[in-house]
Amino acid sequence: MTVCDAPGKVYLFGEHAVVYGEPAVPAAIERRATVSAEPRGDDHVRVEAEDLSLDGFTVEYAGGTEVRPDVDVPTPLVEAAMGYVDAAVRQARDAANAPDAGFDITVESDIPLGAGLGSSAAVVVAGIDAATRALGNPLEPRELADRAYHAEYEVQDGQASRADTFCSTMGGAVRVEGDNCEPIDAPNLPFVVGFDGGAGDTGELVAGVGKLREEYAFAADTVTAIGDIVRTGEDLLADADPGGDPSPATLEELGELMDFNHGLLAALGVSARSLDTMVWAARDAGAHGAKLTGAGGGGCIVALDPSDQTETALSFTQGCEVTFRASLATEGVRVVE
Ligand code: PMV
Repeated sequence: MTVCDAPGKVYLFGEHAVVYGEPAVPAAIERRATVSAEPRGDDHVRVEAEDLSLDGFTVEYAGGTEVRPDVDVPTPLVEAAMGYVDAAVRQARDAANAPDAGFDITVESDIPLGAGLGSSAAVVVAGIDAATRALGNPLEPRELADRAYHAEYEVQDGQASRADTFCSTMGGAVRVEGDNCEPIDAPNLPFVVGFDGGAGDTGELVAGVGKLREEYAFAADTVTAIGDIVRTGEDLLADADPGGDPSPATLEELGELMDFNHGLLAALGVSARSLDTMVWAARDAGAHGAKLTGAGGGGCIVALDPSDQTETALSFTQGCEVTFRASLATEGVRVVE
């Protein structure tokens, strides 16, 4: 059996604007999805998943046709999770030139689903890595990231950027601009995450920004301004001690840019009352900065705070269901067994 895990991510800067060719900087966090793959003697794929912030489920399907004997009424989240595992298996079969390869697969994850933390990307990345390794055909990281992107692209009907899958594969902070993805140096950022228990509809939110951008030149300017924030933030990261603790001045400035980025995302209509409430609770508690992460509309915020104050404040904030510290995951996907 081969077991791999891969990290989730937060967007330090740049979500939504990245759709229009601006750069974005996601950063991997120490919250991981773990996937095990054991080749079978037939072409069936059996998937067992627990702890995916949803009721555990088991499904088995043969070849390309899914049969779901253990799930009477699959919830949309189960459907979504299955789709990602299925797409990962197809990529692994293709990469290993083994179209009939069957697997027993287990999935575990401590990344909230569909909340802007890249849970699906982590499952896809760890899944392809585990399955290709189990077939004796490990992939180079860039090929793995590329295949994981295509898996997500397929499941999400063409609405996927390379950000989540590249970041989950490589770990650390990365810079994404169109199809160009590069790892970048970053200090050990003290992230705190707040999760409202919900999720936004990425497709709808992306379409909403697109409409505003077409309607108003100042909305298009807002998208460009987010790109400027990213470029300013990248310079700060480049000047900091890679892997070291960031100086108070660096945290202060990064936090200010995160606050600015959140304001512009809110102007583009992708924040939510719950996200704004958590952002303000974090700022009031002394965080250097706070913003929504991912598509928005609900889900998670990320704040910068080396102290425990933000986490404590968020745990008492109405509308915040879960809060946790999340350090930068310097390692991306890895073999754990
Ligand atoms: O919610 P997430 O983590 O899938 O991020 C969506 C980020 C967007 O920029 C809104 C869309 C995209 O594909 O880049």
